[in-house]
This record gives sequence, C-alpha cells and structure tokens, in this order.
Amino acid sequence: MMQNLSPSSVSAPAATMTKAQRFLAACRRQPVDYTPVWLMRQAGRYMSEYRALREHYTILEIIKSPELACLVTLQPIQAFDLDAAIIFADILPPLQGMGLSLEFVKGEGPVIHDPLRTPASIEALQVRPPEETLSFTLDAIRLTRQALDPLDIPLIGFSGAPFTLAAYAVEGGGSRNHVLVKSLMMSDPASWALLMEKLSEVVGHYLLAQARAGAQVLQLFDSWVGQLSPEDYRRYVLPHSRRALEIAGEAGVPIIHFGTDTGTMLPLLRAAGGDVIGVDWRIPLDTAWAQLGPDVAIQGNLDPVSLFAPWPALQERTQFVLDEAQRAGRHGHIFNVGHGILPHTPVDNVRRLVDFVHSYTAAQKAGAA
Ligand code: CP3
Repeated sequence: MMQNLSPSSVSAPAATMTKAQRFLAACRRQPVDYTPVWLMRQAGRYMSEYRALREHYTILEIIKSPELACLVTLQPIQAFDLDAAIIFADILPPLQGMGLSLEFVKGEGPVIHDPLRTPASIEALQVRPPEETLSFTLDAIRLTRQALDPLDIPLIGFSGAPFTLAAYAVEGGGSRNHVLVKSLMMSDPASWALLMEKLSEVVGHYLLAQARAGAQVLQLFDSWVGQLSPEDYRRYVLPHSRRALEIAGEAGVPIIHFGTDTGTMLPLLRAAGGDVIGVDWRIPLDTAWAQLGPDVAIQGNLDPVSLFAPWPALQERTQFVLDEAQRAGRHGHIFNVGHGILPHTPVDNVRRLVDFVHSYTAAQKAGAA
C-alpha cells in the first residue's frame, strides 16, 4: 500500500534526532532535542478519516485486516507531527483467542457474551501462541513498519494487562464498580490465580511476538487497576503483571507500563516492571516521578478533556505539565494524555498541542543548555 506521508508541521523546531532516536532515548532516560509526544488512542473517532472508514467496516474488521489496521495506524501520523505510531488494535481480541466471544456493540462498547462466572469456565480458557490467535496484528505490525521506516518513526505495540483483561472477561464488559471481578479475587483465590496465570502467559507472549514482528516499544495498559487497594494490587495482581512484563522483556525493547488512578500505588507498579510508567492527571507529574524513584522514565499526563478547551487554556495546561517535567530535573519524559483521547476532540487542538510540545521543550532545553 502506498502512503503519501509528508511532515505535517511547518513550525517544528530544528531537530537533531530522528523520531525513533528521540522516542527511544526518552524511554532510556537519555537527553533529547525536544520532548517526544504521542496520544493514547490517537487513531480513532475524533478523526474524520477514521469515521469515514468505520462507515464501511466494524472495528473488529479493521483490526483483523492488516491493510486496514496499517491504514488507520498511519492516519494520525499523516495529520500530526507525532513522535510515535501505535499499532491499531484493541486490548480485547486476546480474550477471543482464549475462547471467549467478543463483540463491539454500537453505543454500548465491548461485550463478552460468555463472561467467566464459574471455576470451570476459567479452567476451559485456552492459552495458545499469539501466532495462532492474533496473527492479524503481528502482520499489521510488519506492514506498518514498512511504511514508517523511511520516516524513522517508531511503532508501539501494546496489550491489556492481566487485571484489566480479567475485569472485562469476568464483568462481561465495562463496569463502574467492578464488583464481579473483585469478588472473584477476594472469594476464590485459586480460580483467581489460575485466571491471572493464564492471562499473564497470553499477554507476555503477545507483547513479545509484537516486538519480534517489529514493534520498537511496547505498552501494557492496566487501565482499571486503580480500582484496587494497594494491598490487593500487591497480593493479587503485581506478580502476574510482573510475569507478563518478564516474558515481554525478553525482546529487549523499552516497555511503558500504564494505569489510571494509580497515585497510591506507583512504587508497586514500578516494582511490577516497565522502563516508563504512564500516569494520569490525578497526580502531579513531578510528584509521581519522585514517588517512582530513580531509573525510570515517565509518560503523561494531560487531562484529555483539556483538548476541548480554547487554545489559550489548553496551552497553559500543557505548559504546566511540561514545566513539572522540567522541574523534576531528569531525562525521560514522554508527553501524552493521561488517558485515551476522547471522541469529538477538536482536531485543530491536537495539531497545536503536538507542535507546542515540540517548540516549547526545544526552547526549554536550549535555555537549560
Ligand atoms: O491508541 C491507539 O490509537 C490504538 C488503538 C486502541 C484502541 N483501543 C482502538 C479502539 C488502543 C490502544 C485501545 C486500548 C483499549 N481498548 C483500552 C486501554 C486504553 C484505555 O483507554 O484505557 C481499553 C480499556 C479498551 C477497550 C475498549 N475498546 C473500549 C472500552 C471501547 C469502547 C469505548 C468507546 O469509546 O466506545 C473500545 C473500542 C475502541 N477501541 C475504539 C477504538 C478506536 C472505538 C470504537 C469505534 O470505532 O467505534
């Protein structure tokens, strides 16, 4: 497939690094010419190009076609001066590969039609190699690298984390209080351990396979982990996230470990693993980074709702995050929203945000030098 990729930004500061060099340097806490930026869920409904394609295909059809997944992955790269692409996929197809029935229902979000409600249903879950169950995403990664390599733009692969996947598998969809999944965890430790062991194998090998297919960075999404007390996280989740990250780590590529509402458990997330920890806006970036300790990079943490504000307010909030990162006095900040970019986000604000992160941090760094 031929993609006409041209740099979208006219106001970019002078770059002394390629996007791949910049992004990987930030992951490794090395100096950069300016702060790299990407946005979780950067390909999606806020873009008219994505909505146009969705008129013809369901989300699962796009994910399962390597050509379409590649096309959608490149849409935000063509529109904005982003420093990384993330492969278009979702966290839930691995559950399909384990034998569960997944559907994205219009207006409702994801639905698992046969949620895990008995020990026997957990025993029946299959642990199969990603090459058998998720080959479409591995193929999409290979194809997308061909398009990105001439531009030196790095590609991020990702997976849901064991807890967040368990939440969907047990609840059967999104949930406000996560009563069913937490009840399983609290009342049947043996079934819980079996479920989390199976999920950590699937997640770890899926991430590893994505790196081997060409993903230069990996992200583990533990989106709902903030629902847990720190002690429950430590006992019932941490060992399994650690196992998944250990398997993925065999590839040797940097790993971003992301969760929301994690302000009280950052050292535990750090202990589970990851070279970069992703944080949301509920904690100041510099406070989070101090709590995480040395030897770790940080990603975040603009409130995605800020993108709905007029540019001066968005600019002020963006600058606030960048100043916090600067105050921390260390290398290794990747700018991002604190959780996925929302539908209806004004595209023009996305463009201005990306360009501002570049120009502001280039000046910051020039001033500091
Ligand atoms: O970042 C990217 O651009 C890559 C694509 C991506 C999607 N989902 C595509 C998608 C990524 C990284 C995800 C991760 C994901 N999926 C998470 C973790 C990140 C987070 O936000 O916490 C979660 C929890 C899911 C599960 C999921 N997928 C939900 C709850 C929904 C419905 C929510 C909604 O906004 O409707 C999805 C669907 C989904 N995944 C969409 C996209 C672009 C929108 C579906 C559509 O096109 O109609």
